[in-house]
Amino acid sequence: MVEAKQPQPVHLSDYRPPAWRVEQVELCFALDPEQTRVTSRLSLARTTAEPEPLVLDGRELELESVAVDGRRLEPGAYEVDERHLTLCEVPERFVLETVSVIDPRANTSLMGLYVSNGVFCTQCEAEGFRRITWFLDRPDVMARYRVRIEADKAACPLLLSNGNPVEQGDLGGGRHFAVWDDPFPKPAYLFALVAGDLATLEDRFTTRSGREVTLRIHADEGHIGQCRHALESLKKSMRWDEDVYGLEYDLDLFQIVAVSDFNFGAMENKGLNIFNTSAALADPETATDADFMQVERIIAHEYFHNWTGNRVTCRDWFQLTLKEGLTVFRDQQFAADMHSPALKRIGDVVLLRDAQFAEDAGPLAHPIRPDSYVEINNFYTRTVYEKGAEIIRMIHTLLGPEQFRRGIDLYFRRHDGQAVTCEDFLAAMADASGRDLAHFARWYSQAGTPALEVRRSYDAGSGRLTLEFRQSTPPTRGQPEKLPLHIPVSMGLVGKSGRALELQLEGENEPRGTSRVLELKEPVERFTFVGVEEEAVPSLLRGFSAPVRLDAGYSREDLALLLAHDEDAFSRWEAGQTLAVRLMLQEIAAIGAGREPSLDDALPEAFRVLLGDREAEPAFLARAVSLPGRSYLAQQLDTIPVEALQRTLRFFQAGLGRRLADLWQGIFEAHAGLDPASIETSVMGRRALRNISLAYLVWGDVPGSEALALEQYRQAGNMTDRLAALRALAEGGGAAAEAALADFYEKWKHEDLVVNKWLALQASMEDARALERVRALTAHPAFSLANPNRVRALVGVFANMNLTGFHRADGAGYEFLADRVLELDRLNSQVAARLLTAFGRWRRFDAARQSAMRGQLERVLAVPGLSRDCYEIASKSVA
Ligand code: TRP
Ligand code: ZN
Repeated sequence: MVEAKQPQPVHLSDYRPPAWRVEQVELCFALDPEQTRVTSRLSLARTTAEPEPLVLDGRELELESVAVDGRRLEPGAYEVDERHLTLCEVPERFVLETVSVIDPRANTSLMGLYVSNGVFCTQCEAEGFRRITWFLDRPDVMARYRVRIEADKAACPLLLSNGNPVEQGDLGGGRHFAVWDDPFPKPAYLFALVAGDLATLEDRFTTRSGREVTLRIHADEGHIGQCRHALESLKKSMRWDEDVYGLEYDLDLFQIVAVSDFNFGAMENKGLNIFNTSAALADPETATDADFMQVERIIAHEYFHNWTGNRVTCRDWFQLTLKEGLTVFRDQQFAADMHSPALKRIGDVVLLRDAQFAEDAGPLAHPIRPDSYVEINNFYTRTVYEKGAEIIRMIHTLLGPEQFRRGIDLYFRRHDGQAVTCEDFLAAMADASGRDLAHFARWYSQAGTPALEVRRSYDAGSGRLTLEFRQSTPPTRGQPEKLPLHIPVSMGLVGKSGRALELQLEGENEPRGTSRVLELKEPVERFTFVGVEEEAVPSLLRGFSAPVRLDAGYSREDLALLLAHDEDAFSRWEAGQTLAVRLMLQEIAAIGAGREPSLDDALPEAFRVLLGDREAEPAFLARAVSLPGRSYLAQQLDTIPVEALQRTLRFFQAGLGRRLADLWQGIFEAHAGLDPASIETSVMGRRALRNISLAYLVWGDVPGSEALALEQYRQAGNMTDRLAALRALAEGGGAAAEAALADFYEKWKHEDLVVNKWLALQASMEDARALERVRALTAHPAFSLANPNRVRALVGVFANMNLTGFHRADGAGYEFLADRVLELDRLNSQVAARLLTAFGRWRRFDAARQSAMRGQLERVLAVPGLSRDCYEIASKSVA
């Protein structure tokens, strides 16, 4: 490969403020599926004392004309190349007019202006606006926009952009127009345009200061009926942001559009959010309880961005976590308030550990604020989002809710209308609370998951219990040496009798309750509690107060005590998980040593105790009896023994299914007859517990279980139960499975989102035919490489969840993935690069698999014309 041709990284340290300011943007779109003419009029002003050339970003634009202050330039008066339009001699202030032509229908990248199901729509974050027109496409260039849209009246009765509608009318010849004006200056990544024939659901919301806001959701005619839940979620989000943060909506109109081709979940464009249908539609017939929760969460997330992201935005894309980490934290708080805080926390921690910890342990590890990137699209990661939210959560824990709120208030007071950095955020938090966050700031620049080892010693005679904490962070790519971090450890002491002990540290004159936060800053630190009257087990990292790997040296008895008595529900759940992980690792090792796996009484007994707890929420029990997943187990092993891991998981599922068959049966019956249409938190929890009981019965091959699953599949009154039964049948692998899968497709082939579930379920089936099944499905009429939801459901699930299928010993799973990546790279490099990350953990497998995975990465890298997106992932992964 030629050195100079390799895409070059951008560095945070190279940041320079923009040399030009854009005071006003006027856009006119003459929409046509193949030939849309975009006229842009930018009012520009130089920010520097010395003359500076004007360099605008642009991609795949056919430039028709350029004019300065109304005078058309000769082609020699400017330079255009693949990525820029440069004007050298220009006045200090002027109006630049460009006319360019784009082809939305041919745009398969789904960035910029494209057509989804006949609807024109845009996606501009992070750098999509440059695919629409020439612009200073960077978030620190904020401008006011006025947008005129002209389109065919029949094809596009609805014409939308950001802000307020100001004018509309007829143009003759079957065309019409609309003009929108957005009074809030915004970066180009928040621009949006939608034009098409969509149905509308409307409602109103009165803000607490009395502003009447019109709310509209638009979706295609056949799906508008499934938007009610999104609309209700929106109103809840608006109310919650007022109640908890004092933040009100700031325009008279808030609109959401649902489209079926979309690279991510949704986008927070000012006043005009655009959603993937998968994140907007929910109806009990077609969506599961998990989908309902997900829609609520994403609606909230995008709405909350109006303040954390839009009113205060990012100076540059390195600061992405400034808006994403904070907004994920806010949507987590919201969901906790709407449902159960402990359950919400458990779910978030499972996701963090399964996905983000894995990312942190691989070649793509990066700090929540990276210091360089080749392609910013590759940095919309679990680290920037979910670990970013953990960093905000730790600030919240350290400051407490009141000081945290004061910090947020100050952040908005100082920076409303600005494009800022993570330092600005931390400074507001520190100034408002009087806390020094300089040490804490290391979390922003240091990658990797810290390990925290805790040892205790107890002296019964003096009633002193000492905890010794050791922290260390493993090296990651480009960061061989790590500094100690500021880690809040929320904790308590559970006496051997089961009661919560009062906590008094040496040097304090009185106890301070049964739960408190210890702050670690050094590599090794000791804390001594006094007046500890009985031997006690420390309950550490309550609520997962920091994103670290904890080794607390618990014995089995310690874990049993915490599981039974800890006052913190999260810690009870965690004790169960720790016990399960330990037992499963033992059996994985046994299989590795050629022995048969065995299941002693510890786990069945722990589950029996849990399930016998009449006070416990059913949703909590459903979580507590769920075994740790493949990803989390794999992280505990230096080399991932594919077959042994899979066999152990199956063995535990079957063993627990059989041993506790009476309990599962009892639960299954006790929670029968639930209202299938109810999405009340308590009903969803009971459904979850009932469905995991069904799964255990099937895993255990308990007599009659397949018939039970089949019966539930046939009679189900909602998608949650139907899909749970179908999954149980598929995992049971019995004769009924194929027939049920075929039946399911026949029933639901007209509903895209349900077809995605059908594909995803089959992609996750771990039998000997896994790859053949998935390969055959890529040729199924329902599959399309051009639709990201389809790709994620089939190829993404196969590569990330199907351990034995993807990691087939002969390497055929790897070849299959690389083939799909290369095919997709030409259509949509962003989604292709996402798929490619599945190869990142090649070092963790045996020698044969290592070389097969590595070989595919090298093969991808050698392809001429590979995208920057895939180049970055592949080159970092092989290195
Ligand atoms: N800002 C969006 C969010 O988190 C993320 C997003 C949506 C996105 N679509 C995208 C990021 C396309 C990059 C490319 O809510
Ligand atoms: Zn976001």
